[in-house]
Amino acid sequence: MPLPVNLAVFISGGGSNLQSLIDAAKAGRLSAKIVLVVSSRADAFGLERARREGIDSVVYRAKDYPNPEEAEAELLKILEQYKVDFIALAGYMKMIPATVIKRFIDKITNIHPALLPKYGGKGMYGHFVHEAVLASRDKESGATVHLVDEIFDHGKILMQERVPVIPGDTPESLAERVLKVEHEIYPLALEQLIRGEFGNG
Ligand code: GRF
Repeated sequence: MPLPVNLAVFISGGGSNLQSLIDAAKAGRLSAKIVLVVSSRADAFGLERARREGIDSVVYRAKDYPNPEEAEAELLKILEQYKVDFIALAGYMKMIPATVIKRFIDKITNIHPALLPKYGGKGMYGHFVHEAVLASRDKESGATVHLVDEIFDHGKILMQERVPVIPGDTPESLAERVLKVEHEIYPLALEQLIRGEFGNG
């Protein structure tokens, strides 16, 4: 695939991982042009980040459509319009429809704030993850970049980075430590995926 590839980033919130991808692309560390930001919420701060960078964005909510089929068709249409090659989920809180996963097989990534397969799956997001890690008295946590398949937090793990759990940690302090490594590994893993270095493509 010719570089840079066209990347869509899906968000639902603050978009600090979106920012790390924007920064990496600008610095030439990520061979991608971020052509579109898709947000499941109209009030996501990540939309403001896109605006500042002159990146097109759409608010996409499946519930705005009469039925799931029309919602999926519309999402596929938008992705085709922007000639999207890869999709990076960055704090996106909704499921990706099966038709989109099939169309972008091995080209959708997600970042998760724990060492998958531990602390993944339904209900394991945001502070719930860090609370669960602290409650289990684990000595370490970390971040995971993985491919997205039809099962939540399940696809092939591409990259992980560990951080220590420190005595006295709160979910917030642990989240902050993990987020820092998320910002480091997401662009790295994505770059390797784009270059076919995981045996893909
Ligand atoms: C991150 O912790 C990410 O791992 C999880 O959601 C959070 C998103 O943060 N999937 P941000 O919106 O990128 O700041």
